[in-house]
Amino acid sequence: MSPDRSTVEQQQGTSDGELRQSAGENGASGPSTLSVTDNRTGKSYELPIEDGTLRATDLRQIKVDPDEFGLMSYDPAYMNTASCRSAITYIDGDAGILQHRGYPIEQLCEHSSYLEVAYLLINGKLPTQAELTDWVDEITIHTFVHENVKDFMQGFRYDANPMGMLVASVGALSTFYPDANKIKEERVRAIQIIRLLAKMPTLAAFAFRHNMGQPYVYPDNDLEYAGNFLGMMYKMTELKYRPDPRLARALDVLFILHADHEQNASTSAVRSVGSTQVDPYSAVAAGVAALYGPLHGGANEQALRMLKRIETVENIPAFLEGVKAGNERLMGFGHRVYKNYDPRARIIRKYLDDVFEVRGKSPLLDVATELEKRALDDEYFTSRKLYPNVDFYSGLIYEALGLPVAMFPVMFAIGRTSGWIAQWKELVEDPEQKIARPRQIYTGDRDLDYVPIEQRG
Ligand code: ACO
Repeated sequence: MSPDRSTVEQQQGTSDGELRQSAGENGASGPSTLSVTDNRTGKSYELPIEDGTLRATDLRQIKVDPDEFGLMSYDPAYMNTASCRSAITYIDGDAGILQHRGYPIEQLCEHSSYLEVAYLLINGKLPTQAELTDWVDEITIHTFVHENVKDFMQGFRYDANPMGMLVASVGALSTFYPDANKIKEERVRAIQIIRLLAKMPTLAAFAFRHNMGQPYVYPDNDLEYAGNFLGMMYKMTELKYRPDPRLARALDVLFILHADHEQNASTSAVRSVGSTQVDPYSAVAAGVAALYGPLHGGANEQALRMLKRIETVENIPAFLEGVKAGNERLMGFGHRVYKNYDPRARIIRKYLDDVFEVRGKSPLLDVATELEKRALDDEYFTSRKLYPNVDFYSGLIYEALGLPVAMFPVMFAIGRTSGWIAQWKELVEDPEQKIARPRQIYTGDRDLDYVPIEQRG
């Protein structure tokens, strides 16, 4: 059992500010605590260690003056702060492992469909056949959006960025389902989850068609999730759109690969906004907004532009020399978490061949393949543990599917919706969570006297 968090052992500490972890974590015997000595006061504290973490609020008892606020941790960009307990996604970046609810991503991509993975993420277990059939049926019959959403979309400028349209239209869904803010009611939550999964591809395809100046295509409920999306994107005068099964499967796998990635920037945005108890459409709109940023959803576009700029295999050595000289980065390489081959990149690579078989091979594939090979042979990249990430190849597939680069993050958003919802649901059901409210270190002035405008220099 963990020691009582309120237990504070105050004793005289050593003068050098000793910070010592007691044995007990990772199977060692003894208590799982950290002994900290505050050199300002000489007092020592015993802080519980649970699941390899300290509770930041346990630091608050450490203070010089009883009236002061107490010690805080400072962690810009949350580099070393766990904000929740989660049972959804496990990543071991050093080993290149990604698992959802315990199932390796490789097995899910091989045997599962995107909607089954969405069920797994959201409900915590793989569905039975009957549960899966019901789930898919429910999602399929909710793919249509209210006609006013279509009118609303039509109001955007002809060249509006589709991510901007998606942020707005997902958020706007809350106005069509005012009950959605009853987030404490399980039944209400369940129907919004279905609606979000069902309508996201419809909104995304409408945004694309708007950019193309083409009429919006309504969902076809005879088609499966990815095939229906392709239909809404590309159907023209044919009476029935029949997606190529290789393209539909490749797209479905891409959705699986993007489904969840634990506490990334957009998921943290969804959780943070969701912690205010707002409806899930508004929380997911915040996730889409975060994904709109080039550092998050835009790297595959940069990777594709880079490949286009390199243009031929002959230009690779000079390009790599430039990267090593620090002139630019090899886009689609490196990851904050993965210090090994991103398992998602390996899976995408396999589906490239299927897509190119249908669409014709992109000359950039040879450039990408050779670039990867040379980089993985190069000490600069290996010593820094830089390997291909999911974005190295996904842009090539999206381009082969006929998508403009502005749609790349939209594709990411469709897949990530299941993860955002699963994380939102986990947050709402977690009794330990409260409204997210970080602290700050105030660095500004204080107690100034107001200066009348005519006296300001
Ligand atoms: N090309 C060349 N050098 C690189 C690259 C790269 N792509 N990535 C990292 N490095 C080098 C850095 O220059 C640094 O070298 P140094 O130690 O000599 O200074 C070292 O590797 C460590 O790099 P950091 O920037 O500290 O690594 P960090 O974890 O902060 O960055 C990131 C991760 C942002 C993904 C980085 O690798 C990068 O910019 N990659 C290219 C962009 C990209 O592909 N982003 C997609 C990420 S996946 C996703 O978001 C779904």
